[in-house]
Amino acid sequence: MKFFIDTGSVQEIREAAELAVLDGVTTNPSLLAKEKGNPFEILKEICNIVPGPVSAEVIATDTAGMLKEAGNLVKIADNIVIKLPTTKEGVKACKVLSSEGVKVNMTLVFSPNQALIVAKAGAAYVSPFIGRLDDISSEGMQLISQVGQIYANYGYETEILVASVRHPMHVVEAALLGADVCTIPAKVLHQMFQHPLTDIGLEKFLSDWKKANG
Ligand code: E4P
Repeated sequence: MKFFIDTGSVQEIREAAELAVLDGVTTNPSLLAKEKGNPFEILKEICNIVPGPVSAEVIATDTAGMLKEAGNLVKIADNIVIKLPTTKEGVKACKVLSSEGVKVNMTLVFSPNQALIVAKAGAAYVSPFIGRLDDISSEGMQLISQVGQIYANYGYETEILVASVRHPMHVVEAALLGADVCTIPAKVLHQMFQHPLTDIGLEKFLSDWKKANG
């Protein structure tokens, strides 16, 4: 499973890139709004740090506006992926961009039908938001399982990008379901490395070594 980091923070991305497990980045308008500076410049810097796919989301809500913004965003770097909302207008823009060879990540997906539609429109990635479904007492991971089954039934190549991840168990569950990508907040990525038995074990190895060898 590929690991993307879900942030607009250049510092978090640099730190994650050093861990050598990072395959890509997802941003969204809320994440970039938290950062100081021009969003285009931030995206450019991110694309220089991470060679893998970097999702940049449009702000427009009509197809023509989305296509115009996408035209500017793709100029930032070769690894930019255009992120579009899963609305009728977004799906129309997805169809146009995908047929031109531009990679599209369809975001704000909350149902199997939305996932089916974006695959038919040629999206490179579908982003079901599992944490936000959990937040409203729905079973977010069930959506990943359903989308996986639907895509397998028809051989759709759209990659399932598990989004709105809240904790390390979401990543485990996504991997067990065979999701293609999980986009992970920095905090969760760092939590994934940790296990108290690793810390206790290492401390014991080092103290035993010190006792024997001084
Ligand atoms: C995905 O690409 C989104 O940026 C993100 O995962 C949304 O997560 P949130 O529900 O924590 O805002």
